[in-house]
Amino acid sequence: MDSRIKLAVFGAGYWGTKLSREYAAIENSTGEVKLSYVVDTSVGALDQVKQELSNPIYPSTDATFSCDYSEVLEDSELDAVHIALPNQLHYPVARAAMDSGKHVLLEKPISTTSREAFKLTRLAEEKGLVFLVGHIFRFNNALRTVKQTLREGRMGRIFYANLDWATFMEVLPKERDIIFDLAPHPIDVLNFLLDEWPENVDAVGDSYVQKEDNSEEMAFVHLEYPDQILASIYLSWIHHGLKERSVKLVCEKGTITCDALRQTVKLDYDHNINEIPVFPFDGIDPVTPNKMGSAETSRKSGANNTIRDMQYHFLERIASRGPQINGGMIGAQTVVVLENITAAMRAGRKLRVQQLVSV
Ligand SMILES: NC(=O)c1ccc[n+]([C@@H]2O[C@H](COP(=O)([O-])OP(=O)(O)OC[C@H]3O[C@@H](n4cnc5c(N)ncnc54)[C@H](O)[C@@H]3O)[C@@H](O)[C@H]2O)c1
Repeated sequence: MDSRIKLAVFGAGYWGTKLSREYAAIENSTGEVKLSYVVDTSVGALDQVKQELSNPIYPSTDATFSCDYSEVLEDSELDAVHIALPNQLHYPVARAAMDSGKHVLLEKPISTTSREAFKLTRLAEEKGLVFLVGHIFRFNNALRTVKQTLREGRMGRIFYANLDWATFMEVLPKERDIIFDLAPHPIDVLNFLLDEWPENVDAVGDSYVQKEDNSEEMAFVHLEYPDQILASIYLSWIHHGLKERSVKLVCEKGTITCDALRQTVKLDYDHNINEIPVFPFDGIDPVTPNKMGSAETSRKSGANNTIRDMQYHFLERIASRGPQINGGMIGAQTVVVLENITAAMRAGRKLRVQQLVSV
């Protein structure tokens, strides 16, 4: 009997293609999963993935390509789906998948409304299904290193955080919302590092290139967390230069700077205030004094393939349940924050975050 987890990837666009490739790689290296289907309404997108998966590095992959997700969900042998479809399809498709008894990994944002997001978490619970959200930065070794550093307490209290999520898109997204599309990651990163949700939010944004109302191409988001922690997130699709996914945490005893894309972590701390021992990790650079007379330590944190590690986690949870790193409830709470940020931006004033909207 074939004991592998049978999985389908819904969506063969930019993200779904990467997901299919990584599942095929896991299938070929470990045999823990079978990529049974790749689904997309675009035949061209499916052909592209088909061609990629025909590469001899994936000898055992023989996925079926389909344009109809409903038909695929009828396959009783199918165990799980990873959904990377346009945001507005997340709720109906995840719901249909759960109604068919499939475990679901749903890309962010898990829904365009928190009401629907909580419905999905409840449905998964009722049916005893694994339901995860594609909050991939929880699997990023550099950010895990930052979390570990904070846990060790050597940087003291966190004062404030600054996150830059900026990129330059040649073709600006149509019918996509920069808050719902780009902010889920930095909001989730803050929850991952602080173990808290914001109490108050405020935001401004604008459209400079398309010049359309309610179609912001950039935004500045401000968040207030418990214990007087402030956070600022800069989002942009029109930012020339290198793509940025960076996190800076200014703490009582020093500053942590993390480049989550290139997976580096830098600690700056002042010897006059506190002597912080060098991290006992492999691969650490020698401590060199910087201009300010403080010590600067830079280390490569063992960059990892975050997509693959998230997929392994999904497969492990299906096989043996247990604690979830990126459970659906985190995705639903993130949508609550996104809604509040959007409302604050439209209202032009700071808003108190309404937690846990009832279903
Ligand atoms: N976790 C991450 O870091 C990350 C990164 C990028 C995208 N995403 C998420 O992945 C999702 C997809 O994003 P993308 O950039 O790949 O978008 P995309 O537009 O490139 O791909 C979407 C695909 O869905 C297909 N599609 C549309 N309607 C369909 C239907 N009814 N049935 C089957 N296929 C259908 C389209 O033909 C398209 O190929 C989004 O939710 C996005 O937020 C997550």
